[in-house]
Formats: sequence, structure tokens, C-alpha cells
Amino acid sequence: MSSNQIQSLSGFRDFFPEELSSRRHIFSAWRRVCERYGFSEYDGPPLEPLELYTRKSGDGIVGQLYEFEDKGGRPVALRPEMTPTFARMIALRAAALPKPIRWFSIPQLFRYERPQRGRLREHFQLNMDIVGETNFLADAEIIAAGIDALRELGLNKSHIRVRVSDRRLMVSLLDAIGVAGASHHAVFNTLDRLDKRPRDEIAKELQGIVSDQEVAGRILELTERSISQLQDEFADHESVVKAADDLVGVLGCLEKSGLEGYAEFDASLVRGLAYYTGTVFEIWEREGQLRAICGGGRYDDLLQALGGVDLPAVGFGMGDVVLSELLKEHQLMPAEVGCVDDYIVCVSEEERATALKVAHSLRDSGRRVTQDLQSRKVSRQLKAANQAGAERAIILGAEELSRGMVLVKDLESGEEQEVPLDSLTDRKG
Ligand code: HAM
Repeated sequence: MSSNQIQSLSGFRDFFPEELSSRRHIFSAWRRVCERYGFSEYDGPPLEPLELYTRKSGDGIVGQLYEFEDKGGRPVALRPEMTPTFARMIALRAAALPKPIRWFSIPQLFRYERPQRGRLREHFQLNMDIVGETNFLADAEIIAAGIDALRELGLNKSHIRVRVSDRRLMVSLLDAIGVAGASHHAVFNTLDRLDKRPRDEIAKELQGIVSDQEVAGRILELTERSISQLQDEFADHESVVKAADDLVGVLGCLEKSGLEGYAEFDASLVRGLAYYTGTVFEIWEREGQLRAICGGGRYDDLLQALGGVDLPAVGFGMGDVVLSELLKEHQLMPAEVGCVDDYIVCVSEEERATALKVAHSLRDSGRRVTQDLQSRKVSRQLKAANQAGAERAIILGAEELSRGMVLVKDLESGEEQEVPLDSLTDRKG
């Protein structure tokens, strides 16, 4: 690389045509699924007031903000996630919108993280959220949509698994074993690192929070229980029973929809973001090499906190970075599709006027057309047509044109056929 070349920033991607083709492949699958679930697309500003994130997102994300003062001295941040923008926008129109509201978006987000495999400083994220429904059917529908957004790309239960838990359940369990409400947030933050740090380190940290070795040990034991074990063990605790019933309901809905074998209860899942109040879930690669592909949950207080309207909500964010890695690993990313149907070849510059007319008429009829822009040899033009992945070469030569004909070459079979010039240039309007 020459010394005066400026490199892109670490953790930011250039999308060359082949990478953009992969991105478009993912986005179109996502959009198809969102439409099938009856969701409407929205977008918001990439730059927001800093306060939108400091109020409710939690320390993890706030520590990763790209924040600065704009020229007017306002504290602002590039959006690190879409949920606060979504909550702000919904609050503006909440009264007028029929409920439940089902909206989706595919924003580019920015987080100052340490770049590594599956983790960058920008990523795109499909967000699907339902607002105005407390019934666990909404939670199940959101999880099903997340699974389907991946199934649409060729992944299935042999590649992915959904870990599901519930903050209400965990809060009730912590209450039941005597952990003070004031410590719950710190306990969740510690448990969120369970799969990244050694267990004895986590145990020590929990001990520091609850100041009791036995209780710290019990918290860790709870993270390994199945739902039926918890139901038996805490049968006398009404709030545990209710939260467990809802969770069983969510899992049951997925099975009844035909998505059995994808989701399982995992008490060790808490999720880092501070605003979740109920169901939480993440979708992981089964092998578990990469970070989560998708994460979400119920956040019934965020709209009140950011927009002053009291509406429950549930949704998820699914990132494109981990997903692209996974699709490539399983040979599920299609090769870049050709972007040319017809390549116009001129035998000499004499045919240029006809070439312009043919190219324009074919484009008007919806064909994707490239014409050779130099007076190159026919063989060079045909080579360029093949390289462009064109289906046909339309060869314009003086002799054929004098008879009102052109030569059309099928570039796959090599077959050539004369067709009347009029058949390519006749168009209405
Ligand atoms: P999140 O768990 O922070 O949730 O992000 C969701 C997904 O985005 C992750 O599972 C991961 O695939 C992807 N992702 C996040 N950060 C990065 C990064 N630095 N590089 C690559 N991929 C990344 C949220 O953002 C919530 N707002 C989701 C939500 C919507 N909850 C309710 N509605």
C-alpha cells in the first residue's frame, strides 16, 4: 500500500460489490420475514441526544458510545442500538396508533468495542418490536420471527439454538433466596459475564455483592436449574410460579407453531441491557464459537422512561456481522449475482448510434444492459461480456444491420442467432 493511502478506521467495513451483495441477500431475507409477520418499516436519525442512552441503556452500552459535543455544544451520540430511538418515536405517535404496533428497522449502529471476530465498531441490526401487548403470545411471536429471520437464510435447529429466560423469574428467585432488591442489578451484571469468565471469579464477585458465601453459591446453583426443577422447588412462591408459567407458555407457543427443538430455558441468561423487565432471549450458534447472533426481550418501562407513555413492549436486535460469518461457514452465502443481462458489442464505431438506441430500448424494457465504451476488438468486447456475467451479447455489425438484422449470442451455450433489429428497438411511449 502506498504511504499516502488513507486506511478506513479499525472496526469499520468497506462494502465492495461482493460484500454488498451478501449484505443485500441478508437484508432482503429479513425484509421478507418482517412483511410476512405484518411489520411496518421505520427509521430514525443515526445521531441522537446523548441522554437518550444514559437514561436507561445501562453501563455496558454507555461505556461504548461514540459521543461528542456538536458545534452547538449539545452532547450527542451515534446510535449504539435502535431501541431508545424506537421508544422515543413510538411515544410521539402512541395515542394515534392502533395497538399492538409492529415495526421493524435495519439501522447501522456504532459501538466503540475492541474489534475482533464477530464484533466490530459498526454493524447493521434487524430490529423487530411489538408495542402495546402484555400477553406472552407477543413474546412468542417475536422469538418465532427471530428464528424465521434465520431460517429464511437457510439456517435451522442443527445450526442455531434460542436461550430463553425471564427477568421477572430471576427477580422472584433472588427475592425468594433473600437477595435484597438493591443488589439485583449488580447480580445480573455479574451473571451476564458467566460464559466469558471463570466460574470461581463469578462466585467471588457475587459474594462481594451479597456479602454471603452461601447465598452467592445458591445464586450460581439457580442458573443451572431446569424450569420444572424451579417450579417444584419454589412452588410456594407465587411470583416464581407466575413467571415460570409465562415462560412455559412462550416455549409452548413456539412448539405449537412448529418451531420445536429451537428454544430452551436457560436460567443463566440475563442480558446486559438494563431496561429488560420480563422475557429475555438470545439466539446462538449451536457450536457456540461466536457471540450471540440475536438478543432481545420485554421492556415494559422504557417507553415511560423515554417518552412518558405507559406501554409494554417486546422485541429483538439481530446483527449482520456474526450472521454473515455463520452463513459463510455453512456455505449458505450465495455467490454475487451478475448484474448484466445484455452486453452490446459494436464491430466498429459506425454502429455506435444503433448501439445507443438498442441499449436504451432494452433498458426501457427492463433489461440490465452494458455497452462497450471503447472501440475495442470484438474478441475483447466478448471477453468483457463474459466477465460481466452477461446472459447475451448483442453484436452490431454493418453487414447484418444493412439487412435490418443483429446477431444475438447466448454466452452460456455459445449459440448465435440473427434477429430483426426492430424486435430489440420497438417500444411503446
Ligand atoms: P444487543 O444484544 O446489544 O441488543 O445486540 C443485538 C445483536 O446485535 C447481538 O446479538 C449481536 O449479534 C449484534 N451486535 C451487537 N453489538 C455488536 C458489535 N459491536 N459488532 C457486531 N455485532 C454486534 C440490542 O441492541 C437491543 N437493543 C435489541 C432489542 C431490540 N431489544 C429489544 N428490542
